[in-house]
Amino acid sequence: MTSKQLNKKKGTPLIEIRNLTKAFGNNLVLKGFDLQLFPGENLVILGKSGSGKSVLIKCLVRLLNPDDGEIEILGKRIIDLDQKALDEIRTEVGFLFQGSALYDSMTVRENLRFPLRRHPERKASADEDQLILASLKSVGLEDAIDLMPAELSGGMKRRVALARTLILKPKIILYDEPTTGLDPITANEIIQLMLKLQDELGTASIIITHDMDCARVISNRVIILTDGINYAEGTYQELDESKDPKVSAFFKDINKRNHG
Ligand SMILES: Nc1ncnc2c1ncn2[C@@H]1O[C@H](COP(=O)(O)OP(=O)(O)OP(=O)(O)O)[C@@H](O)[C@H]1O
Ligand SMILES: [Mg+2]
Repeated sequence: MTSKQLNKKKGTPLIEIRNLTKAFGNNLVLKGFDLQLFPGENLVILGKSGSGKSVLIKCLVRLLNPDDGEIEILGKRIIDLDQKALDEIRTEVGFLFQGSALYDSMTVRENLRFPLRRHPERKASADEDQLILASLKSVGLEDAIDLMPAELSGGMKRRVALARTLILKPKIILYDEPTTGLDPITANEIIQLMLKLQDELGTASIIITHDMDCARVISNRVIILTDGINYAEGTYQELDESKDPKVSAFFKDINKRNHG
């Protein structure tokens, strides 16, 4: 789907953030950040290191508590939710952490079993091993089921982490730096896999990245997080061509770092 088509059928936002504020002591990281995520779209958030991208995504799923502002996910104000309701929402929102965060002492199968055991209500009819195998298949790694994380390459680890995220069939996926630390070919494989999942599962995603190739290929829309706010928003191309000095400086800076 092109971003133009997507814009036309935006619909009700799956996630809406208004005026999000978060500080650590004197370090004011988010200063009134706004965002909307619409069905089916890949929304990329770009920002320099330390700009608050991970903090933003952690506030979204309440791994961190925001100081102020509103966060609605699938129509629920998550600030108000008790632990049980929060756990339920978390099954709808898959989170791929920065790095892969697999449990090193567990096999791939055990890593994927983990979310199923935490959320037995989500198993529905299929049996555990079938769900694990199906999820590994969707990332092309069914043969790795009995391997340990130490036996996997960086790209394979990333895919197993993605399979673990997919096993609860989330409506929304949050990716924190999905391609960082991978060589360009492996990074591209992950990008293609993310596009395939968007297409086949119809999931909407927020993707945090500094990888401009990733942003260009995967995004339907891009937000630039700088100075703690949603500074600029548009398609990759619109922002790349922007005359706003801060936006164009940002693209120049990042392109220089990525290409020489
Ligand atoms: N738990 C925490 N306690 C205190 N300060 C924190 C905490 N987490 C993040 N910070 C601070 O918040 C700011 C933003 O951090 P964050 O991890 O969101 O950056 P980022 O944009 O994800 O950077 P990167 O691109 O390097 O991953 C930094 O100044 C960081 O030191
Ligand atoms: Mg980060």
